Amino acid sequence: MSLRTAPLSVPSERDRETLFTPELRAEIDRHIAKYPAEWKQSAVMPALTLVQEANGGWLSRELMDDVAAYLEMPAIAVYEVATFYGMYDLEPTAKHKVCVCNSISCLLSGSEDLIAHVAQKYGVKPGQTTPDGRFTFKEVECLGACRHAPAVLVGKTYHEKLSAQELDKLIEGLE
Ligand code: FES
Repeated sequence: MSLRTAPLSVPSERDRETLFTPELRAEIDRHIAKYPAEWKQSAVMPALTLVQEANGGWLSRELMDDVAAYLEMPAIAVYEVATFYGMYDLEPTAKHKVCVCNSISCLLSGSEDLIAHVAQKYGVKPGQTTPDGRFTFKEVECLGACRHAPAVLVGKTYHEKLSAQELDKLIEGLE
């Protein structure tokens, strides 16, 4: 994922104002309040998560700039966080995200087979959205569920020790 792949179509100034509602600011402020006043940038990850959710699952460069301004930190530092962690998306995604862990424990426990299965059955490579727009498929780094590999994150729910058939059932249940 890189900023060079960020889409050209971005929320307009008006959309961004609508997005950065008082409610959203209040939620970000709740995270800022957890840290000393001079370290408000420590809230960058939850702030990005909240803004991404409010924007339908992805972050434009302009929204990252807004987060940087709100947290009084350099925009480049926000880009670094957003491009490093796999939970942030810099392009529009489907409503649902299916994220298969590709780190070592999961690789040794069959995540490569899961990834190949999804690619073959649903016609989508990691980083892409299915042709029918049903879900965006992602390969991600360790999900912190290594003891129960292979791990898959669907939306905000973790699923562990998944077989291809079990993953199919989850995908079929996506509305
Ligand atoms: S290696 Fe997959 S959850 Fe840690």
